[in-house]
Amino acid sequence: MKFIFLIIISLTFIGCLNKNNSASVGKMHHKPKAPENNKITTEKIELGKMLFFDPRLSIDGTISCNSCHNVMNGGSDNRAVSVGVLGQKGGRGAPTVFNAAFLSTQFWDGRAKDLEEQAKGPLTNPIEMGMPDHNTVMARVSSVPGYISAFKKVFPNDPNPVNIDNLAKAIATYERTLITTNSPFDQFMAGNKSALTELQKKGWDNFKTVGCNSCHGGNHFAGPDLPLGQGFFQKFPAFPNDAIETKYNFQSDTGLMSQTKNETDKNMWRVPTLRNIADTAPYFHNGKVNNLSEAVKIMAKLQLNVDLTSEQQESLVAFLQSLSGSIPQQTMPTLPPTKNTSIVKVN
Ligand code: HEC
Ligand code: HEC
Repeated sequence: MKFIFLIIISLTFIGCLNKNNSASVGKMHHKPKAPENNKITTEKIELGKMLFFDPRLSIDGTISCNSCHNVMNGGSDNRAVSVGVLGQKGGRGAPTVFNAAFLSTQFWDGRAKDLEEQAKGPLTNPIEMGMPDHNTVMARVSSVPGYISAFKKVFPNDPNPVNIDNLAKAIATYERTLITTNSPFDQFMAGNKSALTELQKKGWDNFKTVGCNSCHGGNHFAGPDLPLGQGFFQKFPAFPNDAIETKYNFQSDTGLMSQTKNETDKNMWRVPTLRNIADTAPYFHNGKVNNLSEAVKIMAKLQLNVDLTSEQQESLVAFLQSLSGSIPQQTMPTLPPTKNTSIVKVN
């Protein structure tokens, strides 16, 4: 009797494990987790959206978050590297904001732990929005009466609600609504076997047999689910190749080492998500590769030391196209005005 009981218990346990295992491959969650101290509310989403779209948050009133992360398109700017205030260019491409809420670290080199921490960076980055400091940002925001009342409404228990932390919380909350769902691949995993074409199914097989999933595993094809703040980093290129390096110059940016200064972190990069990858060309941290087919070929060569056949390459591209989900319908926010005066002073 006891023995049978034990068998039942262990079978149930194995069942659970199996279930968890299969559920962890490419399964899309619909709601990202919000931190305990930043609950999602409708008013907060609306305030965050206004701030995300407001170019008055940049020094010369030209650039909003949406300028580089266009949520009417793929959540990126389709440029090799982004263009900030006064036409300045940085060294890296803008990753998409869609599904960033699911990532355990932000930025190509994973230097911000979450969306709240990330949102404070671009405002004072001299080549992005170019504000001298967060006090200047908040002085701008405070000179818009509609923002003061909105912050008060969204953060009712805060005696001084118009502050940089609350601004970042509101933007992060809006970003948690930027989730794409129901891609052909998700439909396929949910049991609709005709959601993928034969070529895409072949691509999914190749993705696993060639070894792409050894790095791009998990629900977002960005590696295992790790605790917040812990990135999944890999060397890129793992198999350096002179001809490719001469053409694309991937190694001049040292990636994680640019943050930590540790030689062992040289050319280590966070494994990026492959969801919606067909909508976010050009590719890689420096945006040097213009099309997905070339990006796939380069990945196989530099990360796995494999020369893909043209059939493999074609099927992998088709598979990656099946990872594009529906972009949530966006409506333009109405930004609160400053009557009779401009808060952006340009000499
Ligand atoms: C001038 C263009 C530009 C502007 C403006 C800008 N970003 Fe970005 N954003 C980038 C670039 C480039 C990166 C990648 C930088 C890096 O990894 O070093 C990035 C990274 C991010 C990421 C990380 C995504 C990921 O996959 O790691 C998020 C989230 C984000 N930005 C949100 C915002 C928000 C919110 C704002 C407004 C407060 C903003 N950005 C303004 C260009 C821009
Ligand atoms: C050893 C780990 C590893 C393997 C294996 C690997 N990748 Fe990657 N992948 C990465 C890293 C790291 C990056 C980011 C590189 C960068 O731009 O700095 C990346 C970037 C990409 C990008 C560009 C993402 C973007 O937003 O621009 C694509 C597409 C991609 N991988 C597809 C694949 C495919 C297809 C395979 C299999 C042929 C594969 N990867 C195998 C680690 C890996």
